[in-house]
Amino acid sequence: MQLLPLLSPKTPNSSSRLINFILISSSLCVIYLFLSLVLLHTSNMVSLTSPRAVSSEPTSIDHVVFGIASNGNSWPKRKEYVKLWWTPNRMRGCVFLDNMPPNAAPDNDSDSSCLPPIRVSENTTRFRYTYRGGLRSAIRVARVVSETVALNHSDVRWFVFGDDDTVFFAENLVKTLSKYDHELWHYIGTNSEIVVQNMFFSFDMAFGGAGFAISYPLAKVLAKVFDSCLERYPHLYGSDGRVHACIAELGIGLTHEPGFHQMDVRGNIFGLLAAHPNTPLISLHHLDHTDPIFPNMTTTNALNHLLQASKLDPHRLLQQTVCYDRWFSWTVSVSWGYAVQVFATNVFLPDMIRTEQTFGPWKRGHALAESFRFDTRARHPDPCRRPVVFYFDGASWGGDGVGVVESRYRRMTVENCSFDASTSPRKLEEVRVVSRKLELGVKQLQAPRRQCCDLLPSTAGKVMEIAIRECGEEELIYMHP
Ligand SMILES: *[C@@H]1O[C@H](CO)[C@@H](O)[C@H](O)[C@H]1NC(C)=O
Ligand SMILES: *[C@@H]1O[C@H](CO)[C@@H](O)[C@H](O)[C@H]1NC(C)=O
Ligand SMILES: *[C@@H]1O[C@H](CO)[C@@H](O)[C@H](O)[C@H]1NC(C)=O
Ligand SMILES: *[C@@H]1O[C@H](CO)[C@@H](O)[C@H](O)[C@H]1NC(C)=O
Ligand SMILES: *[C@@H]1O[C@H](CO)[C@@H](O)[C@H](O)[C@H]1NC(C)=O
Repeated sequence: MQLLPLLSPKTPNSSSRLINFILISSSLCVIYLFLSLVLLHTSNMVSLTSPRAVSSEPTSIDHVVFGIASNGNSWPKRKEYVKLWWTPNRMRGCVFLDNMPPNAAPDNDSDSSCLPPIRVSENTTRFRYTYRGGLRSAIRVARVVSETVALNHSDVRWFVFGDDDTVFFAENLVKTLSKYDHELWHYIGTNSEIVVQNMFFSFDMAFGGAGFAISYPLAKVLAKVFDSCLERYPHLYGSDGRVHACIAELGIGLTHEPGFHQMDVRGNIFGLLAAHPNTPLISLHHLDHTDPIFPNMTTTNALNHLLQASKLDPHRLLQQTVCYDRWFSWTVSVSWGYAVQVFATNVFLPDMIRTEQTFGPWKRGHALAESFRFDTRARHPDPCRRPVVFYFDGASWGGDGVGVVESRYRRMTVENCSFDASTSPRKLEEVRVVSRKLELGVKQLQAPRRQCCDLLPSTAGKVMEIAIRECGEEELIYMHP
């Protein structure tokens, strides 16, 4: 490239330079011809050795088969969770029960058209179960893996397993799986939020309630050896421990994806949702043990509300962006599709992306009961010193431009804070956020980048407007305290 200025036609027209020009350009031609022959040859070789890499279509929900573990007692209630995310005709797989509930006869259940088909699990009484105080249904639930493989579905890339109280965000599940080669052996999921749970079971076990995925070739091999493997682990507690043990025997460890959520916590999970890891939300779990995620709603209505946001921009759901107001010295944290928090003070970014501990431990009593596997920060005991929270209200496509989404957030809780100054964000009534639909490619998933935001000038009134953009275009505005 650096040769070019010398060869520019503006250079004085001396004959020696002309000869140089001809010599150099003809040798460049020879090099070019040589290189293109070599490249042509090697690219032929590449396409000969891996023809499928070129022709392979992107992974979609059509390539996934689900196995959902439930039982006759819990299914009539828990099916409400499955109804939230299951798309009939589009999704494949089954719910496995220990016995058919009396009113679930396929042609009598008005729900059956919007739920996965039910199968009764095979008899597992021949397996030993010796964990004292545990439930031997763990064996039946573990075998959901091999019984799902035995459904013999065609064109499967991934088997995905979950409980009847696991809520999947299907688009994000598929998007996340698409970054892995489904022709290799993969076991993908997450462990518990609670350090002691992981110490007891394993840091490298996919906790079953969070949901986990097994690639087709691994699932086929696993299914073949599963029953004989189960005989070796009668002493384990749960189903997920058995799956983990049998996959470990095949030489495969867990690939951690923090978008799956076991949710081994109780109470208010606001802090976990508001500071979600910088990766698409794949699942939520244990929603019977936690408060509804939006105030003034039932658990399922609240989940459905979150899924409405997900319909417009699934990849952005819960993705956190933080911006600063230079006049009032406010800090604003957007958890897209869920909540916007406005702090009356300047909070540094590294503190904003820690998880506010709004929730309680799964079990009390252990010294490490409240040790989590991520960064936390305490919640202020005085509600008037906490940020003002605006909850997701609705979203729509923006008027100007393709792929622009406008989401709205409003107050749903009222605190009686008498000492508020005139610059308090409590005067605000609504927050509007403008963003571009997030379309994550495989490369962005491999190198995730948090986005940034700006407060738009209209902020003075009762409505705050925020625009989300790529970071790095402008510097963050910090007001040092
Ligand atoms: C259908 O289910 C209802 C309860 O949901 C029950 O009362 C009724 O007897 C069932 N009918 C048949 C034909 O099983
Ligand atoms: C399961 O198998 C055992 C024998 O292995 C048998 O005694 C039992 O009746 C079977 N249970 C069912 C529900 O078929
Ligand atoms: C799946 O295929 C296997 C072996 O070909 C067969 O034994 C089994 O019955 C099939 N299962 C179903 C549900 O068709
Ligand atoms: C929440 O529900 C209560 C009772 O149903 C109602 O009085 C209140 O106005 C609701 N609050 C909001 C913010 O919708
Ligand atoms: C707010 O607090 C003041 C003083 O503590 C009290 O008089 C007032 O009734 C409270 N208002 C509400 C809505 O609770």
